[in-house]
Amino acid sequence: MSRVALVTGGSRGIGAAISIALKNAGYKVAANYAGNDEAAAKFTDETGIPTYKWDVSSYESCVEGIAKVEADLGPVEVLVNNAGITRDGMFHKMTPDQWNAVINTNLTGLFNMTHPVWSGMRDRSFGRVINISSINGQKGQAGQANYSAAKAGDLGFTKALAQEGAMKGITVNAICPGYIGTEMVRAIPEKVLNERIIPQIPVGRLGEPEEIARCVVFLASDDAGFITGSTLSANGGQFFV
Ligand SMILES: NC(=O)c1ccc[n+]([C@@H]2O[C@H](COP(=O)([O-])OP(=O)(O)OC[C@H]3O[C@@H](n4cnc5c(N)ncnc54)[C@H](OP(=O)(O)O)[C@@H]3O)[C@@H](O)[C@H]2O)c1
Repeated sequence: MSRVALVTGGSRGIGAAISIALKNAGYKVAANYAGNDEAAAKFTDETGIPTYKWDVSSYESCVEGIAKVEADLGPVEVLVNNAGITRDGMFHKMTPDQWNAVINTNLTGLFNMTHPVWSGMRDRSFGRVINISSINGQKGQAGQANYSAAKAGDLGFTKALAQEGAMKGITVNAICPGYIGTEMVRAIPEKVLNERIIPQIPVGRLGEPEEIARCVVFLASDDAGFITGSTLSANGGQFFV
């Protein structure tokens, strides 16, 4: 029987690559998204992966959304917390709204999504929780106090929960991508990319969404059962912890 995997923000960017890679690896996949219905419909047409709209920053919406996914596909055994947003600004100009939006989605979203599936994973003595953090949660980034704080928080959450899940067959790990060639990053002017960003990356290129997706497929697999509480950096050598 194929396992059920739920990917938040699974209809675009890195999340779309994760959803597709998990499907190709034999999982029954559900992809959540926030509001871009057009992108979600196109993604489902192209991949056959069902999409489910709810906001991970709302606990009640997560409970309802997960219940729908489980009614359609079965209990969630692999949860990939990938949904994330940026609301950048230098700290002296950052508004409480910018702070709260990023913390509520990128950090509280992990509580909201993981809590409703956790008891089921414990009862079945199996689970995989994979949190997509960021290089900027490891090293900090000017203009991203909110994002860096949330993504660093994701790493603490990962380590604490890994200790609780270990005796119950549940692993909890994080992946910290560096610059990945998603639409958002590719929209940066080529001159800025070539002169300011790529020179910071020792391998000399952006990462591909599929490279993050392959990390997820590995961490979700039975082969990764001894790996928990870890942070996998996939950043082309840009930053070592
Ligand atoms: N791109 C990079 O270089 C990079 C580097 C390091 C870490 N990351 C992390 O990797 C993850 C994916 O990034 P990305 O660049 O692929 O993002 P993206 O292309 O902007 O896609 C974000 C996805 O998350 C969904 N989403 C956003 N807010 C949500 C919410 N409140 N509830 C449910 N879904 C929500 C979006 O849904 P809609 O389509 O409906 O908007 C979309 O499917 C994020 O956590 C990001 O912080 C990215």
